[in-house]
Amino acid sequence: MLQPLFGLKHLFGIAGMSREQITSLVNLGDNFIDINSRSVKKAPTLRGRTVINLFFENSTRTRTSFEIAGKRLSADVINISASTSATKKGETLLDTGQTLAAMQPHVLVIRHSVAGTCEFLSEYLENTALINAGDGSHEHPTQILTDLLTLKHNIGDIKGKTMTIVGDIAHSRVARSHLLAAKIMGYNVRLVAPKTLLPAFVENYGCEVFHDFDAALQGTDILYMLRVQTERLTTNCYFPSIREYHETYGLNMKRLKAAGDHCMVMHPGPMNRGVEISTDVADSIKSLILEQVEHGVAIRMAALTALCGGATEE
Ligand code: NCD
Repeated sequence: MLQPLFGLKHLFGIAGMSREQITSLVNLGDNFIDINSRSVKKAPTLRGRTVINLFFENSTRTRTSFEIAGKRLSADVINISASTSATKKGETLLDTGQTLAAMQPHVLVIRHSVAGTCEFLSEYLENTALINAGDGSHEHPTQILTDLLTLKHNIGDIKGKTMTIVGDIAHSRVARSHLLAAKIMGYNVRLVAPKTLLPAFVENYGCEVFHDFDAALQGTDILYMLRVQTERLTTNCYFPSIREYHETYGLNMKRLKAAGDHCMVMHPGPMNRGVEISTDVADSIKSLILEQVEHGVAIRMAALTALCGGATEE
C-alpha cells in the first residue's frame, strides 16, 4: 500500500482541507517549479506509478498540466476523453470508473460536469486515489492551489489581502473553491456580478457582494476575472449583450488603474478577450495569467506526489 503525504487519501476539494494541508501542497509545488525550468525536465519521483486522466469536459490547461506533471515525474500517464470513452456507447460513469480501477492505476484524475463525481466514485473504488480536476460548478482544488502558489510568489503572505472575483460566480467552481480557501487561509473575497450570475443565498458565503464593479476596485489587491460559463447557462437572458457585459463587468485598463498600482490580475483561463477582460489588461505586466499556467504544472506534480509518491509498504 502507498502512504499518501499530508494525510491526503484523495483530493476532492478545498472543503475539508486544513490550512496545513493547503500550505504543504503549495510549498511542495514551489519545490517542483525548478524541474520545469531545467533543460532536462525529468525526476524519478513517480516511477512505477500509473495516472489516468479521465476528462468528460473540455480542458486545455488542466488536462495538459496533469499529463506533463505525471510525465516529468516519470509516472505512466494515460489520457481518456469523454468523446473517445465507452460512455459514448452507453456505459455508466460507475462502470467506466470501476473498469479503469480494475487496471490498477494509482491515481484517477477526473473532470466531470456533475458535482461530487469523485466523492461518489470513491465509495466504490477502494485502491485508487482520486483527484477532482473540476466537477460542474462545485470545486476545482488544484486551480486554487495553483493560484495560491502564484500569489505566494507575487505578494508573499496572502493573509488579510483582498481578492475581488468578477463575473459568472454562479457557475464557477473556481469562485466557490476560492471562497472556501479564503476562510481557511485568511484572505478576503469580494464578489462582483450581475444578480443573474450570483449563486442563490450568496449572503451565506460571508463575503462582500457588489453589482457595481467600479465600487469594488478600491482596496482590491487581486482582480480575479472569470469567463462566462456559456456551457452551463440554460437561457441567453443573463445579461443584455456581450458589449454591455464588457462595459459593466469587463476589466479594462481604466479600471485596473483605478484599483491602484499594487493590484494584480488573475484568470484561470480560458480567457474570452473583449468579454471579461480586455487584451491590453490580459497582456499587461500586472497580469499573472501565464504564471498561473506555469505554476499549474508544479501544483499538479505536488498533488500527484502527495497521493501516490509516498513510500510503499511492499
Ligand atoms: C476553469 C474551469 O474549467 O473550471 N478553467 C481551468 O480549469 N483552468 C475555468 C473556466 O472554464 O472558465
